[in-house]
Amino acid sequence: MSQTTDLRAQVAIIGAGPAGLLLSQLLHVAGVDSVVLEQRDQAYVEARIRAGILEQTTVDLLRRAGVDARMNAQGLPHDGFSLAVDGETFRIDLRDLTGGSSVMVYGQTEVTKDLIAACKARGTPLIFEAADVTLHDLEGASPYVTFTKDGEARRLDCDFIAGCDGYHGVSRASIPEDRRRTFDRAYPFGWLGILADVPPCEAELIYARHENGFALASMRSPTRSRYYIQCDMGLRLEDWPDDRIWDELAVRLGPAAAHGITRGPSIEKSVAPLRSFVCEPMRFGRLFLAGDACHIVPPTGAKGLNLAASDVRFLADALILFYGRSDEAGLEAYSSRALARVWKAERFSWWFTGLTHRFPETDSFTRRIQRAELDYIRGSRAAQTALAENYVGLPIQ
Ligand code: APR
Ligand code: PHB
Repeated sequence: MSQTTDLRAQVAIIGAGPAGLLLSQLLHVAGVDSVVLEQRDQAYVEARIRAGILEQTTVDLLRRAGVDARMNAQGLPHDGFSLAVDGETFRIDLRDLTGGSSVMVYGQTEVTKDLIAACKARGTPLIFEAADVTLHDLEGASPYVTFTKDGEARRLDCDFIAGCDGYHGVSRASIPEDRRRTFDRAYPFGWLGILADVPPCEAELIYARHENGFALASMRSPTRSRYYIQCDMGLRLEDWPDDRIWDELAVRLGPAAAHGITRGPSIEKSVAPLRSFVCEPMRFGRLFLAGDACHIVPPTGAKGLNLAASDVRFLADALILFYGRSDEAGLEAYSSRALARVWKAERFSWWFTGLTHRFPETDSFTRRIQRAELDYIRGSRAAQTALAENYVGLPIQ
């Protein structure tokens, strides 16, 4: 099958998740062209159920990119959230503790739809169902990507490749093993999540620590709720009919929240594993990794999408500096700059998971320590401030 060289772009972007799409939009706004290659079809990409808490820095970035109209209209700004400890609840006042920052509840699925619509509107090539994506000459001055589309072999020539293809993508795997290092932590439990078209039990999120395990009350809108309970990874969904999940949520979230729970049929139910993962460096020659392609966080701190956004902000700024002023400083600094923020978010997500989940192997002493740390946070403005500033998003440096 001969290869047709029919595409050229300054930046080839692998993956049409939030990282790849946001990067393409930011580059477009600054006059840098790109082509986005995605292995799945549009319906699949737009249907994925993911978290939905945007840090202030991510909200600002979506505004800079000009894809904020629906977020501004439908997103729910939240100035705080609650922690429930064995049924007793206290509030973390994000706005007060951080001097004015808050978060925005707006689903990642909606962010992705907005970015795909913007991509199509501006006419950037977004090739869905691009199969066999392979990266070439990453250490040369003219890298290129080959792929097949509708059975035809294609080639995309470029100056740079952005690997935004998630944890299972081809980009990270294209870096020789001896040129990368990975850090991994798998957690001995998962999250059983349900989505239901019922009003949320509270106006703000509730993170619950309970003897039975963690629980989270979240939402997508005033009429659509998202709930999670900590579960064993071997759980069988058929053993967890909706009513059993609602019963368990009422126990773990505590009587006040339980009183506000509106039950209803789940429209989505799934189990997700919890994992912390980092790949260093985030650059190999002309290949730059961003998002889940190079780091995974447990969802407890809602950092996944926000870290992908800060990566592509660093990368977009570096590429814009290169094309604008032939200055490679941003590209040189990209990996270390992004990793510095990644590791802080990894630490927060790992810590918040440790604070709120039940680890099967922990002894009674460690359980008491966990309780004591939560009691300390309840009574300490300093501890609450540390939690709040990490939750709203650390400054971009
Ligand atoms: N070729 C082309 N596309 C690919 C390939 C490949 N070989 N492998 C994967 N992809 C695509 C996937 O189909 C997916 O659409 O890359 C995209 C990666 O998107 P995400 O997994 O959403 O990753 P990212 O954009 O980094 O977003 C991170 O997603 O998983 C959540 O919690 C995570 O919120 C975080 C966000
Ligand atoms: C979600 O709404 O899916 C959600 C919110 C907060 C989290 C994780 C997930 O920490």
